[in-house]
Amino acid sequence: MKIYVGSEEQIAKKAAQQYVDLLTKKPNAVLGGATGSTPLGLYHELARLNKEGVITFKDVTTFNLDEYVGLDGSHDQSYRYFMNHNLFDHIDIDKERTHVPDGINLENIKTYDKAIEKAGGIDLQILGIGVDGHIAFNEPGTPFESLTHVVELEENTREVNSRFFKSIDEVPHQAVTMGIKSIMHARSIILIALGDNKADVVEKMINGPVDTAVAASILQLHPDCTVYLDEKAAAKLLASGADVEIERI
Ligand code: F6R
Repeated sequence: MKIYVGSEEQIAKKAAQQYVDLLTKKPNAVLGGATGSTPLGLYHELARLNKEGVITFKDVTTFNLDEYVGLDGSHDQSYRYFMNHNLFDHIDIDKERTHVPDGINLENIKTYDKAIEKAGGIDLQILGIGVDGHIAFNEPGTPFESLTHVVELEENTREVNSRFFKSIDEVPHQAVTMGIKSIMHARSIILIALGDNKADVVEKMINGPVDTAVAASILQLHPDCTVYLDEKAAAKLLASGADVEIERI
């Protein structure tokens, strides 16, 4: 794991540079997408670089991590809607090449991992992290061997995500998510964590044992994983004095 600490803006710029480097070498790269608050700065920066002609997404294919069960793409809390509004509508990507797991026809999830493989596998996967250590919607205890599957959302995750809905009653109880093995197949991974509510879990993800209790801890075993933390999310890790290399951006 490479670990960088900086401001949210510095993180967005440095992470975006990884996309520039990749797309310069491989214009038809396969990108793994995430939703939530964390990647917004990065998506904004990617849209800016696209507008300025620094990168193009015209030959890129994308696969998103997850989707709520029961929400179709027109629902403003669906992850398809999120991706269109926060990234795809602002870049020159062909929407036909963008994939978000199907939260309506659950039969379709059986072929999601195959579709990723057929596209050549994910070159660069962006991840956020839940306060319970989830990556995508792989909650604590999810087997490391898991592929794309349906999950029951933890009450805590529903509560945290209810900030985007009118009330918690509207937050779906299930989601479709790429599994941990699906994620680990990506050639490169970027995980971004921002804010003090992530400080505990970031410390566990990096210093703790590789254990399904903290799904993100598996990333310690990924051959090319870059972790970007703001000062708040890095606070416990920095205070732990652990023997890990941390670079300031
Ligand atoms: C979203 C996803 C989730 C989020 C995580 C953090 O597609 O897969 O794992 O990355 O819940 O969410 P935020 O970024 O809102 O703190």
